[in-house]
Amino acid sequence: MPKVLITGAGGQVGYKLSALAAGYGFSLFAAGHADLDITDRSQVNAAIARELPDVIINAAAYTAVDKAESDRDAAYELNCRSAGYLAEAAQKARIPFLHISTDYVYPGKGTAPEAEDDATAPANVYGQTKLDGEKAALDACERTLVMRTAWVFCEHGNNFIKTMLRLGRTHAELRVVDDQTGGPTYAGDIAKSLLRMASAVLGSSDFAGYGIYNYCGSPFVTWREFAEAIFSGALSQGIIKQAVKVTPIPSSAYPTPAVRPLNSRLSMEKIHRVFGISPSDWKAAIADLRGYAPA
Ligand SMILES: NC(=O)c1ccc[n+]([C@@H]2O[C@H](COP(=O)([O-])OP(=O)(O)OC[C@H]3O[C@@H](n4cnc5c(N)ncnc54)[C@H](OP(=O)(O)O)[C@@H]3O)[C@@H](O)[C@H]2O)c1
Repeated sequence: MPKVLITGAGGQVGYKLSALAAGYGFSLFAAGHADLDITDRSQVNAAIARELPDVIINAAAYTAVDKAESDRDAAYELNCRSAGYLAEAAQKARIPFLHISTDYVYPGKGTAPEAEDDATAPANVYGQTKLDGEKAALDACERTLVMRTAWVFCEHGNNFIKTMLRLGRTHAELRVVDDQTGGPTYAGDIAKSLLRMASAVLGSSDFAGYGIYNYCGSPFVTWREFAEAIFSGALSQGIIKQAVKVTPIPSSAYPTPAVRPLNSRLSMEKIHRVFGISPSDWKAAIADLRGYAPA
């Protein structure tokens, strides 16, 4: 049974990876932040020497997008330099390295879904550190697969759905940004896709498709449309007691330290062609919202 080492196992994607790995035929070393600090190169090398994984999936990251604007060094350390440490170790062990990146590497203009080889130009510090991290990983390990994803949510951890459900309990009306469009992506679907990619490369003696793959949810919506779908489900499931009126606003009316791209649509043609992976069905993932509801 091949063994997968998962870093950042306490995060949204790491949690789902850890829960699903056995179902894909992997034995598991799930390392939370306290078990393995990936900014410490010697800890990374020691963990790989001790655990002898057949594949590494890095789900650890600096994900506080706004905080990164004023905390550049810490974001760079985790998203770039540490990705390089893991990739270097994977190269030394001659095993594949799967790494997660973001739609924020793109400038996010226009309306066309972004393809893997479209031009990158991050609009914020987080996106730049993630782009540098992709490059560090791809340069250090020839068996690197990068998945760029977007708008991640799950029952575990902090995300937009949890925020909406919390606010929906106390607000009859909310203003939500309506000029950023993307595909909400269920962390469980990201985890399944990564495990499927890992199985595919381990099962092939001559896999030639290392590189970057885009993956997100479908259909594409604005944050306002996503919020309306959440409130509609929450009302019908009795999670909130009254309807929430969602007022559309432009991004300019909700200033944040980090600029967000307006177009977060990702093209999934390549991941489907190479791995047979379909978009994350976010509507199915929120069909039952009880797991997301605050206590
Ligand atoms: N969330 C999104 O909307 C989104 C969108 C696009 C791409 N992505 C990418 O998807 C991936 C997974 O994101 P996510 O939403 O699952 O992130 P998350 O929930 O914020 O989880 C990140 C995990 O990394 C851990 N971590 C922090 N510093 C660490 C260190 N030095 N060593 C080891 N672990 C450390 C954190 O642990 P502590 O909390 O204990 O520090 C946390 O459990 C990331 O690469 C992210 O950039 C996310």
